[in-house]
Amino acid sequence: MKVIFDTDPGIDDAMALLYLSKLAEVELLGITTVVGNADIATTTRNALFLRQQFDISAPVIRGAGETLDGVSKPEPVIVHGVNGLGDIKIPAVSEDGLQAGTASQFIIDTIRAHPGEVTIIAVGRMTNLALALRQDPAIAGMAKQVIIMGGAFGYQGRSGNISPAAEANIHGDPVAADEIFAASWKVVVVGLDVTHDIILTSDYLATLSAEVGANGELLAQMSDHYAKFYMNVMGLAGVVGHDLLAVTYLLHPEWFETREGPVVVLTEGIAAGQTIQMPSTRKNGPSPWADRPAQLVCIAVEAEKVLQHYRATLSR
Ligand code: BDR
Ligand code: CA
Repeated sequence: MKVIFDTDPGIDDAMALLYLSKLAEVELLGITTVVGNADIATTTRNALFLRQQFDISAPVIRGAGETLDGVSKPEPVIVHGVNGLGDIKIPAVSEDGLQAGTASQFIIDTIRAHPGEVTIIAVGRMTNLALALRQDPAIAGMAKQVIIMGGAFGYQGRSGNISPAAEANIHGDPVAADEIFAASWKVVVVGLDVTHDIILTSDYLATLSAEVGANGELLAQMSDHYAKFYMNVMGLAGVVGHDLLAVTYLLHPEWFETREGPVVVLTEGIAAGQTIQMPSTRKNGPSPWADRPAQLVCIAVEAEKVLQHYRATLSR
């Protein structure tokens, strides 16, 4: 399975990247970066660090530092730390793995080089993907699928994290996200409705450290900071593995229940970033949803299977 990983590392992004790197089924073609959990220089540096640390051969390609909505947002230091990786010590990183060019051009070129074969797993703001689509709309018909971590549709009372109405990746660039949902490619949405079922407790992280070795230990160290946020702000014992769940979907879609239907994003106002799906079973007249392709929103997941699979994969 050919994959482009579009990311803003980010602690849970690091969890997802280590997972991807261990999956024999996956051929990772590139890691594209975007502003989000930190500025673009920092997320790109973090991607280079993780690439080196996890012994990944795929290149890193720098992506968008500004979002398409033109609104700059504060960095989520309280969640991911000042350096984006829970303020662990990051050594000086060589730029050897950095490929010239932009993320959006890389996405276009890679999809065109392998028509029908490339899956994009996007776990940050969707700016790079939207830029690629604007430049070359035909790629929508040439990608295999786009799996995103983002959005919240109200299942189990989950309607947002950065605001009561919005999830952070969508809120970070609602204009880009709306363009992604409107395009004629297969989008699978792995949002808060399912990611909040993936809780990595301190016991689970300790097991990862013991079983996986240095990289498991690294994830556990980063998670110290992340765990404080979840405990202090959400009263949750453990950390949420948002981004890793988008990777699980690639391998095991049968562990997810989905709902089909077009999706619209509110792009401005107090609820900017809210994601709303019209189920395909509902036949309304003309509406902002009517001309859009049906996309798949994950509404339930077999969380225990995911946590077992993650642990077993990392221990390989
Ligand atoms: C998403 O926002 C980021 O902080 C995480 O890395 C994840 O992709 C969760 O809302
Ligand atoms: Ca992320």
